[in-house]
Amino acid sequence: MITAIIGVGNLGRALAGHLVAGDESVVLAARDEAHAVGLANELGPRVEAALVEDAIAAADVVVLALWLDQIKELLADQAHLLENKVVIDPSNPIGFDANGRMIRTLPDDQSAGSIVASLLPASAHYVKAFGTLGADSLAGSANREPRVALFYATDDDTAAYTVERLIRAAGFDPMKAGGLADARRLEGPNGDLSQGGLNGELLDVDQARAAVAAAYVMT
Ligand SMILES: NC(=O)c1ccc[n+]([C@@H]2O[C@H](COP(=O)([O-])OP(=O)(O)OC[C@H]3O[C@@H](n4cnc5c(N)ncnc54)[C@H](OP(=O)(O)O)[C@@H]3O)[C@@H](O)[C@H]2O)c1
Repeated sequence: MITAIIGVGNLGRALAGHLVAGDESVVLAARDEAHAVGLANELGPRVEAALVEDAIAAADVVVLALWLDQIKELLADQAHLLENKVVIDPSNPIGFDANGRMIRTLPDDQSAGSIVASLLPASAHYVKAFGTLGADSLAGSANREPRVALFYATDDDTAAYTVERLIRAAGFDPMKAGGLADARRLEGPNGDLSQGGLNGELLDVDQARAAVAAAYVMT
């Protein structure tokens, strides 16, 4: 299985490092190909860099490690590349107000997940995952004892199976939070299963299961 990570910024870099450490094959792409080449060179021979189109074509799984607006732009003319692919969406609808305070950029009844999923071809296997922790926390919390849990949300069995494999390979325990309708719970800045909504806490799998079951009260 080959995983393409589109975007090699904070999140893409952290995830690529973990997947490579977990023996997964990874191909990287960015807007500036030199950024993908630079990270691929750092991470060693299991990682290649490619143009976005070529990275997606080579992959079974595609992680959209881009900001929501960048994902929308990419999908506006390249969504067809994602036919039959497992598509992993870590995006959070985050912006900043005039005082520099982090805010949610979408109305309460909308998730970034619902937007991204609606832009994909019907044959794509969508899953929300890998965006619940801050990139620094993600980078620093793999392979702990007990393992830190990472939530995912999907309506698709192929996507669930695949993302569970990748979460384990990355050094975490998977915890399904529900379907696409539950994606909002995973999304920063204040989804109740996002690190922000959990006051920065990292959960093990038992705590994560309890959090999924807990009554959902959006702050
Ligand atoms: N940062 C976090 O702590 C964190 C935590 C959880 C979830 N997330 C989510 O992860 C996503 C990425 O965040 P980030 O902090 O990693 O962003 P970032 O550091 O700004 O990196 C964005 C990456 O996307 C690439 N990119 C932008 N437009 C592109 C396009 N059209 N085609 C190909 N590549 C493109 C950029 O390429 P260049 O390198 O060439 O500029 C860059 O590598 C966001 O949706 C965010 O909500 C972030």
